[in-house]
Amino acid sequence: MALYTETVMDHFMHPRNVGSIEEADGVGEVGNAVCGDIMKMYLKIENNVITDVKFETFGCGSAIASSSIATEMILGKTIEEALAVTNKQVVEALGGLPAHKLHCSVLAEEAVKAAVKNYYDREGIEYDHSQFPDTEDCDSCRFV
Ligand code: FES
Repeated sequence: MALYTETVMDHFMHPRNVGSIEEADGVGEVGNAVCGDIMKMYLKIENNVITDVKFETFGCGSAIASSSIATEMILGKTIEEALAVTNKQVVEALGGLPAHKLHCSVLAEEAVKAAVKNYYDREGIEYDHSQFPDTEDCDSCRFV
């Protein structure tokens, strides 16, 4: 059996929504302390809806595929719906990832959350801090 699903390979070879948004409303950058990979997510938000999303990932194929499919999962969704996207859903949408690559999907979930948090901070919107992972704290990552 192939290590990676066709969906993973498709999103790795043809990633969707790659790039940056100059006038982004929220930008989130997260990294994995162990592998050193970095993911940056840009959001355009209008009336609580994500109207545009782009990403830049300096990382492995699984991280690129995870960020690509995550952008498709949150585009056109409300902020609340985007915040509800978990790395498990990202993995499911990809048709699975090898166990030792699951942590790559965590970056996608965290990048979306970090971008929303940045949006809230910029706009001065009150939020529950506990809903955002402490990406500075490596011990908080369940896959490190
Ligand atoms: Fe680092 Fe995949 S090996 S994110």
